[in-house]
Amino acid sequence: METAEIRRRWLAFFESKGHAIVPSSSLVYDDPNLLFVNAGMVPFKPYFLGQETPPWRRATSVQKCVRTGDIEEVGKTSRHGTFFQMNGNFSFGDYFKAEAIAFAWELLTTSQAEGGYGLDKERLWATVYEDDDEAAGLWLTHSEVPIERIVRRGMADNFWSMGVPGPCGPCSEIFYDRGPDYGQEGGPAVDEDRYKEIWNLVFMQNIRGEGSGKDDYPIVGDLPAKSVDTGLGLERLAAVLQGVDNLYEIDEVYPVLVKAAALTGKTYGAKSAHDAAHSDPDDVRLRVVADHVRSSLMLIGDGVTPGNEGRGYVLRRMLRRAVRSMRLLGFDEPCLQHLLPVSMERMKASYPQLETGFSRISQIAYAEEEAFRRTLAAGTTMLDTAVARARSAGQSMLGGDEAFALHDTFGFPIDLTLEMAQEQGIEVDQDGFRRLMKEQRDRAK
Ligand code: GLY
Repeated sequence: METAEIRRRWLAFFESKGHAIVPSSSLVYDDPNLLFVNAGMVPFKPYFLGQETPPWRRATSVQKCVRTGDIEEVGKTSRHGTFFQMNGNFSFGDYFKAEAIAFAWELLTTSQAEGGYGLDKERLWATVYEDDDEAAGLWLTHSEVPIERIVRRGMADNFWSMGVPGPCGPCSEIFYDRGPDYGQEGGPAVDEDRYKEIWNLVFMQNIRGEGSGKDDYPIVGDLPAKSVDTGLGLERLAAVLQGVDNLYEIDEVYPVLVKAAALTGKTYGAKSAHDAAHSDPDDVRLRVVADHVRSSLMLIGDGVTPGNEGRGYVLRRMLRRAVRSMRLLGFDEPCLQHLLPVSMERMKASYPQLETGFSRISQIAYAEEEAFRRTLAAGTTMLDTAVARARSAGQSMLGGDEAFALHDTFGFPIDLTLEMAQEQGIEVDQDGFRRLMKEQRDRAK
């Protein structure tokens, strides 16, 4: 089933259950804690907190999201994409756990002929928060998941918050068992590659305070009303329904990967079918290209332009990583003109404005690539010379002064120096770099 169809069925199902369809917000959303929208509930936060009255008590959306905290992991695992879409159904003081579980079960297991996703019931598992007897009981009464496939997990896995003070609550995740080819038996607590999380039902009822990590923060109060926030990973479900290994291989992403492979003469998956490590370096680079090209398209589509800080820097970094990955795969010419249109063609079914705005979007991307090619041409020789010097002196680290010079003279951000040095097996003295940057800033003051 195509991703656009999964999306359509989602919205139709929840509309039939009395939910208002709310269009995705822009990725750039006015929340001081967030660089980009990173979950479907972000635009609804004031409703959960009782700061604003929602126009509806039930809503559904397919929200564009970007998460770049693990950008280095992209392509190396089957889980880390930077742009993704989160399908959500939301109750603002209306239904709670029972309906959330019943809706999820119905939509996932209703046959495809009858408008559902037709997942095999025997492959579904549910997790609940450790002391949430109510949710565990509701899975037994409102679904056909047997007790041995209902797993209790602690706060790090089954208590959801935005990572910052705000609404939170215990959650119940739904996992799909991809089968023995993908790992060990035993459920999600044993192997999260074989058992793939597809949907998280959050029972919003508390407010969290300052803290760190997923489980190191205090609960400082209760929300004015018990509510529901769910997030289904559209790309993850697409991978399941399309019978592919990972999100880089679904219909909305794979054509870019195929194009990149054709341009570079590489054969994707030649060495590593679906090995757990996803480790072949060329495959990783092709996945990086496919992921980052789509994310850049979506970010520029929402008005982000490349820059040296904040959102602009995230975009710049992704465009540059895509371009560099193509170079490392052996393609030295401008590449975005070949890749970006392919991505747009795949995404326009769900986001028609990408096609109407493509001339603006592509101009921004191509100009950034051109500027980066000039930066690379100038700085690469200097970097290579510094690496060779470090090696011949028997050092495994590039000095902070050299990283600083690359930054100061050629505009190499430290991330780029780090990545390029790492590719040659050399570390970088980041503390030294930061010290010199600070001295420069102090002098400027
Ligand atoms: N808000 C639910 C999730 O991001 O998983």
